[in-house]
Amino acid sequence: MPAYRPPRIAASEITPKGIYLSRRSFLGTAAGLAAIGLAGRDAIAAPLAAKPGAYKLDEKLTPLDAVTSYNNFYEFGVGKSDPKEYSGDFKPTPWTVKVDGLVGKPQEFGIEDLLKYQLEERTYRMRCVEGWSMAIPWIGFPLATLLDKVEPLGSAKYVAFETIVRPDEMPGQRGLFQPLKWPYVEGLRLDEARHPLTILALGLYGETLPNQNGAPVRLVVPWKYGFKGIKSIVRISLVEQQPETTWKNSNAREYGFYSNVNPNVDHPRWSQATEQRIGEGGFFGVENRPTLMFNGYEEVANLYTGLDLKANY
Ligand code: MTE
Repeated sequence: MPAYRPPRIAASEITPKGIYLSRRSFLGTAAGLAAIGLAGRDAIAAPLAAKPGAYKLDEKLTPLDAVTSYNNFYEFGVGKSDPKEYSGDFKPTPWTVKVDGLVGKPQEFGIEDLLKYQLEERTYRMRCVEGWSMAIPWIGFPLATLLDKVEPLGSAKYVAFETIVRPDEMPGQRGLFQPLKWPYVEGLRLDEARHPLTILALGLYGETLPNQNGAPVRLVVPWKYGFKGIKSIVRISLVEQQPETTWKNSNAREYGFYSNVNPNVDHPRWSQATEQRIGEGGFFGVENRPTLMFNGYEEVANLYTGLDLKANY
């Protein structure tokens, strides 16, 4: 990832929650749908109903504009504004996710199948290893729900994820400079994948996922650094060995398999002791705050009993 630059999010871009809520009800109307079409912003975003989930944060939500315009999605370019700017041609429908490997019932799921699961709105703290953080109201369902459908075998120890490769629609995958090896891949231990906090997200802020945030389906693991949250997933495989992960492949000294948020283990280039919350206070619209162990999700600590979290960063 390129060296950290202060986020250029203007304070004027802040969308207070009240406006977000009234916008949501507006989006539920025919006028709202027409406005989405006319505005052309995030062309595929459409209202997505979800029950309020148990996971809420007593923290200000990061403004929608910041969530959708300050992104890492290298398939569309390495700049923070590239994903929004260059993902307009990406077609997230039709789409299937293949779930295979060490399972009793391998299956392909269409997005319409995934939308039938009980969707919940969950606001999670998100922390990027580059030093910034956000609070995002995702819409999704526990990954464990999907894993149960395919009946993992006893030999399955890890879950491997893969992003789509579509150079025609993803400008970062064509041309001379290829920043990463494609497809983007990620992985979790099976118990991490089954943890109730781990979700597959289909939407945010009451709408389907914008392309730049990983349409139509992405992983969200709130106690790990953002790069574990693989976007635009086409394949999920249950495997026996620890799977390859994109950033570890790219630079194993800087990025490990676990990537748990840990203020005591600095990245070689960026301190992890504090973070800048985007869209809050300060000259750049950011606020410095201490980073919390497991990003504040202490309930996952028992997954790592006996594991040296300094050696296994
Ligand atoms: N998934 C794919 N396929 N390609 C990427 O480049 N970037 C990761 C992760 N998922 C990335 C990806 C990184 S580095 C981060 S910080 C998060 O997506 C950012 O998610 P957001 O843009 O929705 O905040």
